[in-house]
Amino acid sequence: MTKMSKLNQLSTFCVAITVILTANCQDFGYDGAFGPKHWGEQYNSCDGKKQSPINIDLSHVTKWSFPPLIFDRFDMFPESTEIKNNGHTVIVTMNFQEAPKISGGPLNGSYKFSQFHFHWGENDTFGSEDTIDNQSFPVELHMVFFHSKYDSFSEALHYNNGLTVLAFFYYVEGEANKNYKELTKLLRTITEPMQQTLFRTPITMFDLMSSNLNKYYTYFGSLTTPPCSEVVTWIDFAVPIPITPIQIQDFRALNGYHGPIGHNFRPVQPLNDRTVFENVPLSETNTLNQGKHPIPNINTNDIDMDSEEDEEIVPGSIGDIEPVFKDYRKENTASITSIGNICLALTLIAASLF
Ligand SMILES: *[C@@H]1O[C@H](CO)[C@@H](O)[C@H](O)[C@H]1NC(C)=O
Ligand SMILES: *[C@@H]1O[C@H](CO)[C@@H](O)[C@H](O)[C@H]1NC(C)=O
Ligand SMILES: *[C@@H]1O[C@H](CO)[C@@H](O)[C@H](O)[C@H]1NC(C)=O
Ligand SMILES: [Zn+2]
Repeated sequence: MTKMSKLNQLSTFCVAITVILTANCQDFGYDGAFGPKHWGEQYNSCDGKKQSPINIDLSHVTKWSFPPLIFDRFDMFPESTEIKNNGHTVIVTMNFQEAPKISGGPLNGSYKFSQFHFHWGENDTFGSEDTIDNQSFPVELHMVFFHSKYDSFSEALHYNNGLTVLAFFYYVEGEANKNYKELTKLLRTITEPMQQTLFRTPITMFDLMSSNLNKYYTYFGSLTTPPCSEVVTWIDFAVPIPITPIQIQDFRALNGYHGPIGHNFRPVQPLNDRTVFENVPLSETNTLNQGKHPIPNINTNDIDMDSEEDEEIVPGSIGDIEPVFKDYRKENTASITSIGNICLALTLIAASLF
């Protein structure tokens, strides 16, 4: 065999390895081989017993009067607001001198704002992740926060009190929601994956939220995208936000890596032995649990996760949030590069043998 053909064989082998690695690094999707049914093959937690989303069955919720939620700095204008198509959703990050924080309600401690993003469907009959009495909403907003005792979202992912997500549903209305005007308009400038842009007119968090923040459901669950970490206290506000058909269309027009992001909601998961609470503001009741146990333990194994649980979580893989996505890309690029280097080294050794 000639020197050249050996080299060729070797480089074919290297190309094959690279192709296999790249295929394994394929990110998650919502259909077919990369769809929700297969997430568990790469991410153990996605097959867990406390997964989100769920259907909230109103005849089986436990009514409870939680202490008031405390929205700290939700009325502040950010210094800048960036909106990005990450190929799975549109993700908005706001830069504040000091991040808004939420505490109170079912939460033990204070949680720092990280980012928000959306889930939607092809038509108005589907789109939200959680459903209420089997009813879907056309769009759902997730505002993601991490416990302020952790340094970052990625660190918080390892503790079951790590995250809280404020979820808001939408309903279709004829009149434009002016607080969403710039956001939906900017979507037209980021139709391709990894495109991003900045808001010109700042808005506050409150501007984007429901008009009623007292009515909510809360339960313990997971991220709704891989790695599906079971670390989330969900707070789903009952009163939906209005949005016009044209504004929803701007979400549906976004493209992912494999064509339009027609839908990006995970189907509902079994509730198993979890309890869903419905907040009943204290003024509306005088018989319920007043003052006795204001914060029930909604998370049945509420101690910080031990190392055994840690193994289930894949730090640095694609999560519900952009920084994790970045880590994931970095890691895979690194592994491909190092295989590439090994291949190069082997090729050089082989070449030197002749
Ligand atoms: C709340 O957190 C504190 C400090 O981490 C802990 O000591 C306490 O047990 C927690 N309370 C509940 C109800 O989980
Ligand atoms: C809405 O989309 C779903 C698929 O996501 C489809 O099954 C259903 O038929 C559609 N409904 C209408 C009214 O187009
Ligand atoms: C929701 O769907 C489940 C399963 O199909 C069914 O058992 C339940 O009765 C439905 N609930 C309502 C409120 O329609
Ligand atoms: Zn989400």
